Amino acid sequence: MVKVLLLIFFVSVGCTHRVNIVTPDPTYSKSRFEAIAQNNMVASQGEATTKATLEVLKSGGNIIDAFVVASFMISVERPQSTGIGGGGFLLYYNRSENKVYAFDFREMAPVLSKSGMFLSKNGSPQPLLSQEGPLAVATPGLVAGLFEIHQKFGKLPWGELIAPAIKLAREGFANYPHLSLAITDRKHLLAADPDAKKIFLDGAGQPRALGDLIIQEELARTLEEISIKGKDGFYKGKVAKSIVSTIQAKRGILTEKDLRDYKMKERLPVSATYKGLKIFSMPPPSSGGVHVIQILKMLEKHNLKKMGPQSVEAVHLTAQSMQRAFLDRSIYLGDPDFTDVPVSKLLDQKYLNELSDKIKTVKAIKAEELKLIPIPKESSETTHFSIADSDGNLVASTQTINGWFGSGVMAKGTGIILNNEMDDFAQQVGALNLFSAVGGEKNLIQPKKRPLSSMSPTIILKNNSPYMALGSPSGTRIITCVAQTILNAVEFEMPLLESVAATRIHQQWQPDKLKIEAPYLSPKVESELKLKGHDIVHEKLGCSIQAIQKMNPGWKGVSDPRGEGLALGN
Ligand code: GLY
Repeated sequence: MVKVLLLIFFVSVGCTHRVNIVTPDPTYSKSRFEAIAQNNMVASQGEATTKATLEVLKSGGNIIDAFVVASFMISVERPQSTGIGGGGFLLYYNRSENKVYAFDFREMAPVLSKSGMFLSKNGSPQPLLSQEGPLAVATPGLVAGLFEIHQKFGKLPWGELIAPAIKLAREGFANYPHLSLAITDRKHLLAADPDAKKIFLDGAGQPRALGDLIIQEELARTLEEISIKGKDGFYKGKVAKSIVSTIQAKRGILTEKDLRDYKMKERLPVSATYKGLKIFSMPPPSSGGVHVIQILKMLEKHNLKKMGPQSVEAVHLTAQSMQRAFLDRSIYLGDPDFTDVPVSKLLDQKYLNELSDKIKTVKAIKAEELKLIPIPKESSETTHFSIADSDGNLVASTQTINGWFGSGVMAKGTGIILNNEMDDFAQQVGALNLFSAVGGEKNLIQPKKRPLSSMSPTIILKNNSPYMALGSPSGTRIITCVAQTILNAVEFEMPLLESVAATRIHQQWQPDKLKIEAPYLSPKVESELKLKGHDIVHEKLGCSIQAIQKMNPGWKGVSDPRGEGLALGN
């Protein structure tokens, strides 16, 4: 059992308010989580990932080269969270063009998939089918995304950028607490797959101990294939054949054509002005950007600063704005290639003003009062990294295989763990996913559709100059964790480390709970919130914000002190 010691720690914000924040596991030094540097900055959930990414920037690579290095490295270093068997999103601020790009390499439903494929004969959802095993796997997009983005913007040769990940996979790294926890949690799946079993379990079939070497030799060979052949090394040839034959042998539906036909997409980021800053985030098929912006804009005209961070009123309003945003999520969000998603209406100032007026209630609004349709569910894995370079470019990328070790299916002989992203679709209107998010009609399964995501890679500009890049793992909680970090830094003017480390809350309409993570709010604040009608539960939210903020000069990087990541610059 891994224990993370959480101490309550107070910091003063301004001269009047004291805020409680989390402190790291004492085995880690504080300097690991906060760095200040003049030129380049990297914040990721992996120590080896951050170091290799910074190295490529120092040795002449550009920020997209660094993005490619970080993506492959974190795939190896956090196999429980992400990998080449998954997908993700990239927000990229190109300083010379003063433009923010959004790239979508989210997984797609196989052509043979259909709405209702996870329902039993009597029509009830069977969540296990969309979470574990071959039917849970959607067509992976990560390698296509990395390859095509590198072709467009990269500088150093592709193969050079994969080399550090091949070395890490081959030489291994020491098992760490989060990985150990995930192995224990998914032991039943890993034990059932001979390839996965030899990597993550010991000779006695038990989870590898903390500190044991995690060696992924077959993954190293697959990465070599991709290094030589580019994306064809994944989507065609022996790797593709192995993915498909493994899945089909288990009666899954993914075909070689699904892999060959996978398409990465460039999209227009969602954006809004908030407190004079320009916020850019991921558009649909992620719900993240729309709802991060909705939450902030609903709160903008209420004077939260005066109420004080972690005050009853500020927490009440923040929870109410989260609740409203999640109601919209369940009704309006889906893959824009298949369904009309009214993004501009959802971000329209007049609409947000109306919502803002509605959240200013004395008592908490009950979920049923907002219930327009039956609601469906969502997981806590995934990873995020942020990068800044000396030219002022920014990268924010969130990547995932969805749940811990995805579907638990490893393509034979390849070391690739395949995602369980099919669970991010709604099995039926009103059904719940791994994250208990309510599924709406617009997120029902269709062949080649992308499942709705909550991933919220976000970039903020101030006076047309880079100001912040951030994001987080943890399913639906990503949206509220990213919004709260921005709120802390911008509205409450807290330093970046405290903005990230402060106690977080989460409200997602259904279930109708106000979740509060340790270190909890003061007993007085929590009992007043209860009197207002909030149904409080104490729960781990699983976010791990990786953020970078502009300093003058240079950058500050913060890796969430709840985790084992690393912020490092030069
Ligand atoms: N699989 C988690 C998400 O995309 O939000």
